[in-house]
Amino acid sequence: MGAMAKEKMLVSMALALLITVHVGTSTSTAAHQATQHEEEEEEEADRIVALPGQPKVSFQQFSGYVTVNEVAGRALFYWLTESADQPLSKPLVLWLNGGPGCSSVAYGASEEIGPFRINGTSSGLYLNKFAWNTDANLLFLETPAGVGFSYTNKSSDLMDTGDRRTAEDSLQFLIRWMERFPRYKNRELFITGESYAGHYVPQLARAILKYNANSKHPINLKGFMVGNAVTDNYYDNLGTVTYWWSHAMISDKTYHQLINTCDFRRQKNSNECESLYVYAMDQEFGNIDQYNIYAPPCNHSDGSFGPSRQTMCLPHQPHKKFRQLSGYDPCTEKYAEVYYNRPDVQKAFHANTTRISYKWTACSEVLNRNWNDTDVSVLPLYRELMAAGLRIWVFSGDVDSVVPVTASRYALAQLNLKTKVPWYPWYVKKQVGGWTEIYEGLTFATVRGAGHEVPLYKPRVALQLFRSFLQGKPLPKS
Ligand SMILES: *[C@@H]1O[C@H](CO)[C@@H](O)[C@H](O)[C@H]1NC(C)=O
Ligand SMILES: *[C@@H]1O[C@H](CO)[C@@H](O)[C@H](O)[C@H]1NC(C)=O
Ligand SMILES: *[C@@H]1O[C@H](CO)[C@@H](O)[C@H](O)[C@H]1NC(C)=O
Ligand SMILES: *[C@@H]1O[C@H](CO)[C@@H](O)[C@H](O)[C@H]1NC(C)=O
Ligand SMILES: *[C@@H]1O[C@H](CO)[C@@H](O)[C@H](O)[C@H]1NC(C)=O
Repeated sequence: MGAMAKEKMLVSMALALLITVHVGTSTSTAAHQATQHEEEEEEEADRIVALPGQPKVSFQQFSGYVTVNEVAGRALFYWLTESADQPLSKPLVLWLNGGPGCSSVAYGASEEIGPFRINGTSSGLYLNKFAWNTDANLLFLETPAGVGFSYTNKSSDLMDTGDRRTAEDSLQFLIRWMERFPRYKNRELFITGESYAGHYVPQLARAILKYNANSKHPINLKGFMVGNAVTDNYYDNLGTVTYWWSHAMISDKTYHQLINTCDFRRQKNSNECESLYVYAMDQEFGNIDQYNIYAPPCNHSDGSFGPSRQTMCLPHQPHKKFRQLSGYDPCTEKYAEVYYNRPDVQKAFHANTTRISYKWTACSEVLNRNWNDTDVSVLPLYRELMAAGLRIWVFSGDVDSVVPVTASRYALAQLNLKTKVPWYPWYVKKQVGGWTEIYEGLTFATVRGAGHEVPLYKPRVALQLFRSFLQGKPLPKS
């Protein structure tokens, strides 16, 4: 592995030399050459030679920090896994996880769409057969500062970060990252993500369009896709309670009480409403995995069953009872927390170079608890971004009870979009992958039997969804 990576490094150094020579004989200035040389050095410094326990791969990987705010000392951590085959002709896809406060390295990269999975002893990696980097260059970003390896030198930042700063810093990240990787400057960019990234993704898309309006070097943003996405407080909450009732997780009585007592528009519930949520979860749900209501929970090493996840509260659901995600291997998050805290792993990643004072965690509770600002609804953003001509896809794993399919459908219905292709089942390997409807300006698709982290539970089906999205084609009708 080491030898192979070294060879690759030599090849790329030779290439760099060629480029420099070529530029030298053209009309470019010495200053330009110097800048280009610095960029290449910066990029090379970020190259991942090999991660501990990693199988052989034929794609290039880079990771490291990009400073997004000098005054506060905020730096965001990224991990780029390029496509093995013709990476230069493939788009760039940014993936974001939600929380708020959760890491794209922990979830997106290690459990969902990334090329590697962490094995059961956290001592090695194995290949994900349905990784999305077959079709695109994948950029995982830990955002905002305070998530994963991303840090701030101003500790008070952790107490007042919200949607606003996340969008601003993520935009700065993209601009500066492209300076480091000039080959991506004019590349087609798609932004993807799930859950609370239902806020980050359209907010970042808007920030990019705003930046482009006044920039000589616009970012070539083509579209975005979000899954089980937090979208609109009122319709998300209504849809969630309705899902619980329609999936027999709660009684008729509790359902009616929730509907009649809770003001779904409010950020903070009244005590009366809060106690109804607590009753539903403690007395009626049972020990299920709310992120995939039909999956088994994690069997901990001590033999006990129960939550492996951080108990995150989404801002529109301020009750504290969220339980873990689970899938084929419901303990995957645990492996990540062991693996990414290993000093040899951090060294290989060029991560934690400033000796961060706390451990790497899949989600930051501090950020989550102190989230400063959140949009009540991102539907107005959808209208704006559709008008700007972006390709927009919204998907939903239909056995998630945290941001369920009913929530997405209620929310999207508010857009009153004209149907272009009526509701139909879409197929993967002759099985119904889910259902879809194509509207003017937006495509909606469900993924049958998938929980909150769709690519974790239905990797093959999710890859088809991603391919169709990238191609801008309707999902397969057979
Ligand atoms: C944060 O502080 C450390 C220690 O002083 C420094 O090395 C690092 O460059 C700072 N980070 C940023 C982004 O300014
Ligand atoms: C994990 O990977 C390491 C390194 O390849 C290997 O030694 C170990 O046996 C693997 N463990 C499991 C449970 O697969
Ligand atoms: C749960 O884990 C314990 C110890 O690791 C093991 O003995 C037990 O068989 C497991 N139970 C199930 C249902 O997998
Ligand atoms: C960073 O490294 C220090 C040791 O130098 C370690 O104590 C800390 O847990 C690490 N933090 C993260 C976020 O990786
Ligand atoms: C916190 O939220 C308020 C609005 O609720 C906003 O005006 C302020 O800029 C936010 N603070 C930061 C640091 O983003």
